[in-house]
Amino acid sequence: MSTNNRVLIFDTTMRDGEQSPGASMNRDEKIRIAKALEEMGVDIIEAGFPIASQGDFEAVQAVAKAVTQSTVCGLARAAKADIDRAGEALKPAKRKRIHTFIATSPLHMRVKLQMEPEAVLKMVTESVTRARNYTDDVEWSGEDATRSDHDFLCRCVEAAIDAGARTVNIPDTVGYTVPDEYHALIKMLKNRVPNIDKAVISVHCHNDLGLAVANSLAAVQAGARQVECTINGLGERAGNCAMEEVVMALRTRKDHMPYTTGIKTELITRNSHLVSTITGFPVQPNKAIVGANAFAHESGIHQDGMLKDANTYEIMTPESVGLRKSNLVMGKLSGRHAFRAKLEELGYTLGDNAVNDAFKRFKDLADKKREVFDEDIVALVDDAVMRENDRIKFVSLEVICGTKVAKPSAELELEVDGVVKYAKANGDGPVDALFNAIKELTTNSQHLQIYQVHAVTGGTDAQAEVMVRLEESGKTVQGQGADADTLVASARAYINALNKLLVKREKNAPAAMSA
Ligand code: KIV
Ligand code: ZN
Repeated sequence: MSTNNRVLIFDTTMRDGEQSPGASMNRDEKIRIAKALEEMGVDIIEAGFPIASQGDFEAVQAVAKAVTQSTVCGLARAAKADIDRAGEALKPAKRKRIHTFIATSPLHMRVKLQMEPEAVLKMVTESVTRARNYTDDVEWSGEDATRSDHDFLCRCVEAAIDAGARTVNIPDTVGYTVPDEYHALIKMLKNRVPNIDKAVISVHCHNDLGLAVANSLAAVQAGARQVECTINGLGERAGNCAMEEVVMALRTRKDHMPYTTGIKTELITRNSHLVSTITGFPVQPNKAIVGANAFAHESGIHQDGMLKDANTYEIMTPESVGLRKSNLVMGKLSGRHAFRAKLEELGYTLGDNAVNDAFKRFKDLADKKREVFDEDIVALVDDAVMRENDRIKFVSLEVICGTKVAKPSAELELEVDGVVKYAKANGDGPVDALFNAIKELTTNSQHLQIYQVHAVTGGTDAQAEVMVRLEESGKTVQGQGADADTLVASARAYINALNKLLVKREKNAPAAMSA
């Protein structure tokens, strides 16, 4: 099957990515991300782990209904109930895949599964066979494959393919392997597994040693034709292989790696921002491809070279990842038509209500801010759309602070389940006073772990983008908020995190979920 050079892109932002502490996504957020991934040309979208909770089941089901071009995938352990639940959730999908996995390394089998290898092997066959009752498109993964015994791994892969798996995934679950070793492992499987030509070899790399992208590329060069990855490299612990990096590496170094993907790279920046806004995980400025500095040239020597010929210091164009020069878009006199056209140009297709809300916020922003840039509109629209179904909504805020005030105070109005509530609170500083007021109006057993502010654009009138991380009983959530007023942005971020906490309280992940 791997005679061609087309590499399938399997996105697991909504499954492995969601396993990052704090990165929960609700059903509507998953639909938004899924549609963005589909538009981007992702081949397979892993939408979740249906047995994990009712919320996860419904999210996978909703994505299965919403997506028509990409294959929608659900994860299942090698257990009947898991597979049946995944099969059920995926029922509405036009193209569906069940991804079933079991650990194959001696350590995982002995300590986690407490099973003998022969029993694991039997479960490989049983799980794939059961999954085939729901779809012909079954993927099998040997968890911790890179620390598995080669002979045993070969037997498992062969059994999975015999039972009907069309894709066999060889995960580096703990981010332990290195490129030449992983290359050799894939080659070994190609040489030794007799029926390997009947399946696509997939790779799934974690980034514990910062090698996830390098390992994935090495595996492609050895014959793998599916790469599992996430937007912004989100994922368990140090994350997964970053989609934008692996795709741009293949595109930029075609001379050395003659493989193609179906990804429209021009949508990379937009989707990176979308995932960052929804999960509340900011992108570090020096992150490859999507960091704010990825295409910035500061030093005089570099700027001089760039002015003479961009190729001197730029190996790919900003436009190829969807970055445009910051251009002044509109001011407070711009009308609704121009605003709608701008939204379309930025890749948004919103309903009338959402456009009206966003337009109102744009007008408010244009009143406060002299120049409104594309980045401002993206921040504002993502912020507004993200909140459509929130139970707790921001209404108004007045903060009194400064050196002449003995104790800063915040007067706040929130809408909680449709009812507007008011509170006034003091604090050690304005942010403390504001957060205390929020706590008075909501169920409050959460702790603030992180509070971060950054400016969306340059200038003192820039919008502030605030990230807040809350913790409650060992569960963490992140929220984001944007506004020209830093305190309003802070309120929005805290409320965004609280709304996620409400969803999280309903979720109950099953034991031994260690993908
Ligand atoms: O890291 C891992 O092994 C996984 C599997 C479920 C593919 O996420
Ligand atoms: Zn994983």
